[in-house]
Amino acid sequence: MVAARHRVFAAGLYDPIVAAVAAECAGARVVVDAGGGPGQYLAAALDAADQAVGISLDLSKFCARSAAKRHPRGFSVIADLWSGLPVRDGAADVVLSIFAPRNAAETARVLKPGGRWIIVTPEPGHLAEIVEPMHMLLVGEGKGQRLAAEVADDFDDVAVRPVRSSVALDEPMLVDIAAMGPAGFHRTREQLAESAATVVADGPVRATLDVTMTTARRR
Ligand SMILES: C[S@@+](CC[C@H](N)C(=O)[O-])C[C@H]1O[C@@H](n2cnc3c(N)ncnc32)[C@H](O)[C@@H]1O
Repeated sequence: MVAARHRVFAAGLYDPIVAAVAAECAGARVVVDAGGGPGQYLAAALDAADQAVGISLDLSKFCARSAAKRHPRGFSVIADLWSGLPVRDGAADVVLSIFAPRNAAETARVLKPGGRWIIVTPEPGHLAEIVEPMHMLLVGEGKGQRLAAEVADDFDDVAVRPVRSSVALDEPMLVDIAAMGPAGFHRTREQLAESAATVVADGPVRATLDVTMTTARRR
């Protein structure tokens, strides 16, 4: 999953999302990436915030190892977000929750007043063209309402912004984009390659990136 994710990011497929997140981090001093995965978003955030240090938190030691190497001002901690974030009260300017589980109470605790929570969630249209043929996980319904409830208690100035683009995927990219998500755990690379070969039989396929970036300010 880590290797597939690196190749997808290196190919620039997620650039519009990475750029949107990084732009929100300008001026931050401490960025916490909760469920940071291999660390690409945190690295981009630290490039955009040249005074900042960053901490990636992830349950996976493979992700943590990768994130630790992504940026000279980036650190990595293996942590379960549901056991509390290993960060002092009010220490963070920004918390990122990108395609990752969200612990709203802990996020509120570690953010300083006025700090920003940046959340990226997939919309039902996200990669919709390839979800079924690649046996990827479907996005659950009602995520928007759930998110609104999570930010209600401790956050205001909530802004919701769609980030959409279209990407062309050849067979190896199709396999990687599926392998970087849950399909990478329940299907072998050979099975994914078999599905991908069918999808791109007539040439590269276009898929839509369709996510929502929500930013909320800690009261
Ligand atoms: C879909 S990935 C997203 C990673 C990264 N934010 C990105 O978009 O590239 C979700 C990440 O959350 C991590 N994760 C899942 N449950 C977690 C938990 N309870 N505590 C910490 N990390 C968790 C996974 O290990 C995985 O790296």
